Amino acid sequence: MFPPTALICVPSGVTNVERRAVCKAAREAGFGRAMTIEEPMAAAIGCGLPIANPGGNMIVDIGGGTTDIAVISLGGIVLSQSLRVGGNKLDDAIVRHIKNTYNLLIGDATAEEIKMRIGTAYPIDPELTMNVRGRDLVAGLPRTLEVSSEEVRAALSEPVRLIAEKVCAVLEDTPPELSSDIIERGITLTGGGALLRGLDQLLQRVTDVPVKVAENALNSVAIGCGRALEELDAIEKSAAVTYE
Ligand SMILES: Nc1ncnc2c1ncn2[C@@H]1O[C@H](COP(=O)(O)OP(=O)(O)OP(=O)(O)O)[C@@H](O)[C@H]1O
Ligand SMILES: [Mg+2]
Repeated sequence: MFPPTALICVPSGVTNVERRAVCKAAREAGFGRAMTIEEPMAAAIGCGLPIANPGGNMIVDIGGGTTDIAVISLGGIVLSQSLRVGGNKLDDAIVRHIKNTYNLLIGDATAEEIKMRIGTAYPIDPELTMNVRGRDLVAGLPRTLEVSSEEVRAALSEPVRLIAEKVCAVLEDTPPELSSDIIERGITLTGGGALLRGLDQLLQRVTDVPVKVAENALNSVAIGCGRALEELDAIEKSAAVTYE
């Protein structure tokens, strides 16, 4: 009887034209009202951060394609930056390392498995190893070799460094009164990429700010979007949601 309301996540920094296009598409699909919420905001709500408070919160969402870093205060995004480095770039770095070092070609899925099983951003004790199967580029035949977590960490160091540098840059750009809150509350990591072992430790060492990984890193954006929809009346009044 009543057309449903839609709340749709959009990447931070999309233009108003793009937002309108998303809302229009939703209305054409049968929704009565269509609203958008920026992904870092949804992620922060999903992680349970106190976004409506006057203090500052920093959320770092490391997805497959991008890393989005945002500072949120009083229900709005104070500043945000996006970097085209995410889980996919980490996988690419592993493929390149195995190819250049061993002349062995592996697929993206194998690289992702290596990343999840033995990938680290910070030294671990004991270091891990894993058998990897690929196609030998010289002989053209399948070959198996053992890969260590140390060499994978070295391969991942470049994209990981880019993420760390961006986090530092956003911290430097944050107004001092908000950064003092962030130093106290810490940085929250979310998105699948946040699950890379030791990334929290590395970022903590580089920034000198406590870093924690969200409990539901893979789903925080979806959870937050759902929660925002449930509390639409409250959230509508804030800057978090935009609608046409
Ligand atoms: N345990 C893990 N360790 C390391 N990386 C992981 C782990 N689990 C998932 N990932 C990576 O997380 C990424 C997916 O994360 P997520 O689902 O947050 O991305 P997305 O939201 O779809 O992408 P984007 O935000 O860029 O649009 C993939 O690159 C995946 O390999
Ligand atoms: Mg994402």
